[in-house]
Amino acid sequence: SNESAAGIAHVYRGTFVHATYHTAVEILEDRLLGVDTEGKIAFIGSGKEVDRLSQKWGFEAVTQLGQHEFFMPGMVDTHIHASQYSYAGTALDMPLLQWLNMYTFPVEACYKDLEFARNVYTHVVKRTLRNGTTTACYFATIHTDASLLLGQIANDFGQRALVGKVCMDTNNFIPHYKETPEESEGETNRFIGELLKKYPLVRPVVTPRFAPSCSAALLGHLGEIAQNNDLHIQSHISETKEEVNLVKELFPDYDSYTDVYHRHNLLTDKTVLAHGCHLTDGELKLFRETGASIAHCPNSNISLCSGMLDVRRVLNHKVKLGLGTDVAGGYSPSMLDAVRRTLDTSKALTIQDTQYHTLTFEEVFRLATLGGSQALSLDENTGNFEVGKDFDALRVNTDAAGGPIDLINHEEGPKVLLEKFLNLGDDRNIVEVYVAGKRVVPFVEGP
Ligand code: GUN
Ligand code: ZN
Repeated sequence: SNESAAGIAHVYRGTFVHATYHTAVEILEDRLLGVDTEGKIAFIGSGKEVDRLSQKWGFEAVTQLGQHEFFMPGMVDTHIHASQYSYAGTALDMPLLQWLNMYTFPVEACYKDLEFARNVYTHVVKRTLRNGTTTACYFATIHTDASLLLGQIANDFGQRALVGKVCMDTNNFIPHYKETPEESEGETNRFIGELLKKYPLVRPVVTPRFAPSCSAALLGHLGEIAQNNDLHIQSHISETKEEVNLVKELFPDYDSYTDVYHRHNLLTDKTVLAHGCHLTDGELKLFRETGASIAHCPNSNISLCSGMLDVRRVLNHKVKLGLGTDVAGGYSPSMLDAVRRTLDTSKALTIQDTQYHTLTFEEVFRLATLGGSQALSLDENTGNFEVGKDFDALRVNTDAAGGPIDLINHEEGPKVLLEKFLNLGDDRNIVEVYVAGKRVVPFVEGP
């Protein structure tokens, strides 16, 4: 008898590596995983029970993984500026606030041009998918139509995405790259209305750029919009000390940077704020109480000399935390880079204080997958291999021909293969990517 309402579409046999709610890395060897026609994981069983399971579920074909292959959950980029991909790898020679004025705002202003937007957004969606980002939480620009186009492109390539039309009514440097609070509110409503009715895997996220770019009136409007529509919220917080001081000047009547967002109803369990390098214990407590999360973006924090987030301290406060590339403050669009930079930053903190409790690669693997999905409050649907969740997965081949990993000992177990992949691997090792059961890499070329 077939217990699933939807039939079985695909069955895979081999090693599955994922994080669970109580372990950083769980290794499931010789398992059989069935995906139903809706893209959900229908069952996980032992490979030895293939005959019984095929009777029970009514499938015939099984895709067998190779000896040096495994499936892992797709990675979750909790913070990436799709619009800044055009200059990724350049322009990292000044501190944040100058960098925004000199490089970021002039480039973002170009997204008024939809063809420019289409070109960059197509490249960034393809690049991130190919590098294993099955879920991305994107900043676009202030332009509603270009932001809607990003949603369409993510949908067309099959990436799960939160997409934010950026809101900002303050810009002293490039006065034409900003909105009035009324425009920003109206366009955000239009953006949400349009995007919500379109694509199953793409959702809008309310996006005040950060407190220095927003009036209190605008922050208030956006908090209300998010509350009334039960939407995700994203912004930046406490990335540099200079920025923290600026927020103190701009918002003198608030207890802290975090309090500025909190008092405008912008801290919820669907809020993700990037960086948080310079938060106080009291602010972290407010994150914990509201369920808001942090997107840790180590490449950006190092590249712009912003600060070093103490991830261990955040986790000890029981604040949710995911990893982000923060393209283009971070120069790499790959979440494997975010994994490595997270480990580097943790090791740099250990160099400063030998008593420091360094993050392990297993913990960082968890942050890149399940941790990210929890930080985005999407873990009901994605983040690991649990029956009922969508099958968002990477088929990793650590022995890919021409790839960056030399397997000298061909008897290495899956834990070692995972560690080698995280430290040495790249997109040549990611032979297939699945989102909600659908194979999205290799790309299916259009007509
Ligand atoms: N703070 C406000 N806007 C930005 C941005 O575009 N990038 C980074 N890294 N920080 C910001
Ligand atoms: Zn950012």
